Amino acid sequence: FCATFLNPGDIVLVEGPSFPGTVETILKYQGKIIEVPITPEGMSYQAIEEIVAKCGRSGEVIKGIYTIDDFHNPTGITMSENNRLMIGQLALENGIMILEDSTYSGLFFEIAPPLDMYSMNGGQGVLRMGTFSKTIATGLRLGWLQGSSEAIDAIKKTRSDMGNAPFIQTAVSRFIESSEYSSHVKEMRSLYRSQCKALTNSLTQHCSNYLEFIEPRGGFFLWPKCIGVDSAALTKSAAEEGVIFPDGSLFYQDPSLHENHIRLAFSGNSPERLGEVGLRLRKAFEKLLD
Ligand SMILES: Cc1ncc(COP(=O)(O)O)c(C=O)c1O
Repeated sequence: FCATFLNPGDIVLVEGPSFPGTVETILKYQGKIIEVPITPEGMSYQAIEEIVAKCGRSGEVIKGIYTIDDFHNPTGITMSENNRLMIGQLALENGIMILEDSTYSGLFFEIAPPLDMYSMNGGQGVLRMGTFSKTIATGLRLGWLQGSSEAIDAIKKTRSDMGNAPFIQTAVSRFIESSEYSSHVKEMRSLYRSQCKALTNSLTQHCSNYLEFIEPRGGFFLWPKCIGVDSAALTKSAAEEGVIFPDGSLFYQDPSLHENHIRLAFSGNSPERLGEVGLRLRKAFEKLLD
């Protein structure tokens, strides 16, 4: 998208907070980022509407709206169906491309997320993308893109994948074509559900005075708000207890938007190890509050 469609100075709206990898790429291509707050319904429609009206008056070009609408990184929030419809419509009316990052969409625990925005908009004005890093193996550097044939043709002309191995591409495509990929993803769903449960149970048991969070229904992440202690101080104190995680401020361009959250990934550890996190974090909190 950036190499094909973005001119220097074009605006891309992103959720605040968002996945830094994408935000950094947009900045590398000299795009201008505007962060849109995320509510329990997903990216704020009202905020987008206001920004679109303001840019309409100033003549600034909004080229895209980047959203991780399912099991968002870092907050775990899933955008509601109504919000998808409204944002999709607004984008179409204003010629703004939706960049829908469906990286975590298949990794729901019980109930699938609402229909994707690409399908809702009948494929118009939406580029939808995902990666196999989360379902097959990290570091694969292989993903997929869905869009209109005009957009895909244009992207093919500017694409550069730094020489991704055809051997890996062929192996992954065979895996997908067989029924094994979908049964593998089903197994992943229950694995991540049990890991998430182990973490949330442990935090509820040991840290309910110190952390507030919404239980995710899929994906990799929990986004707890720290009570009474600065989240950056907590990351240091927790590291001494052997629990390492990023401070929430790393997921914003404007760190002043940060509201004292941390991001806990439950994807990389066994339920047994995740079950220890609550007690270790409680010690980290107690040291700071002493
Ligand atoms: C929302 C989102 N999109 C894209 C990616 C990138 O995936 P890959 O490992 O294929 O570069 C990630 C990885 O963390 C992610 O969280």
